[in-house]
Amino acid sequence: MTQPTTQSTPQSIKELEQRALKELAGANDADALERWRVAYLGRRGALTTFLRGLAQLPLEQRRELGALGNQTKSSLEEELVRHSQEISQRLLARTIDQERLDVTLPGRPTTIGRLHPTTQVVREITAAFSSMGFSVVEGPEVEWERYNFEMLNIPHGHPARDMWNTLWIDYRDEAGRQPMLLRTHTSPMQVRVMESTQPPIRVVVPGKCYRYEATDATHEWHFYQIEGLAVDEGITFADLKGTLYEFARRLFGEERKVRFRCDYFPFVEPGVDMSIDCFACDGGGEGCRICRDSGWIEIMGAGMVHPQVLKGVGYDPEKYTGFAFGLGPERIAMLKYGIDDIRHFYTNDLRFLRQF
Ligand code: FA5
Repeated sequence: MTQPTTQSTPQSIKELEQRALKELAGANDADALERWRVAYLGRRGALTTFLRGLAQLPLEQRRELGALGNQTKSSLEEELVRHSQEISQRLLARTIDQERLDVTLPGRPTTIGRLHPTTQVVREITAAFSSMGFSVVEGPEVEWERYNFEMLNIPHGHPARDMWNTLWIDYRDEAGRQPMLLRTHTSPMQVRVMESTQPPIRVVVPGKCYRYEATDATHEWHFYQIEGLAVDEGITFADLKGTLYEFARRLFGEERKVRFRCDYFPFVEPGVDMSIDCFACDGGGEGCRICRDSGWIEIMGAGMVHPQVLKGVGYDPEKYTGFAFGLGPERIAMLKYGIDDIRHFYTNDLRFLRQF
């Protein structure tokens, strides 16, 4: 740092100025500029120290060097401003240059989502029934007890209510009853459709259902069902078998065999469960993980619409008959794709979902 001495001369100030200007020219960013300002013009900077020290010099010399020193200070300050502006402009120009749109660059790929595996299977199933003349309708998930149970031949106190562990809505009517619930199956839509139309009816109803039950590898507390209903004059159990057999072949392959066994649902008579022969082991069974050695896989409940249900909606059961069925698309997707736990569907793990 240059200190004023009795040997201080105009020449030494000039040298100080030239050194400062040379260093300033090499400062290329805001930090370097600040370091330069502190080194020369700051409170302890070279020029400031020089000017402060002039006080000790004889008057004549002080006057001459003082004027020169102040001039140098102003010119360095001006140079600092000019140089900082130049650097800011250079930085700005570089930023603009970097951000300039290059229309020749290839477009950025946008990631397209995909349909949830349940949605895909629901669509596949409804498409199979659509091609057999069924329409697709939907209904409310918050349902009246009347539709979910009573009109389906499951009156108050009927033991069959225990088959559907129910989530009740916290609402009471004037009589203090709790008549609203989250539907436990899509079967209430059988009643709603029959109430609002006249035969012939052929509908499938996909939709969400809820049950108050513990989850495990094959049970969720919220899951989809697809209901099916056909009502007309002269519909027989043979129509039920033919339709469901055709559906199974479309979804699981031409060579599939089907099996119907008696089952109990209060709103159908007779009631059945339908199984297909296992597509993994071709019905062989032994050692098969999918059908657990049985050779058969249960895929849905079905049956002929109970005359009591037909009467309830004002249909004459002597004139009209029909069949109904209900299946779980997640369980079907599990079978089709070998998924070992139903809970994978709704944990939103993209590593699982991206596989479909
Ligand atoms: C019923 O819910 C009847 N409504 C089906 C029916 C309709 C029978 C029309 C006759 C005529 P079930 O409780 O078995 O039946 O359920 C039908 C299907 O829903 C099951 O085969 C299964 O695939 C699916 N399902 C039932 N409970 C669960 C659950 N907790 N998690 C996942 N899927 C389930």
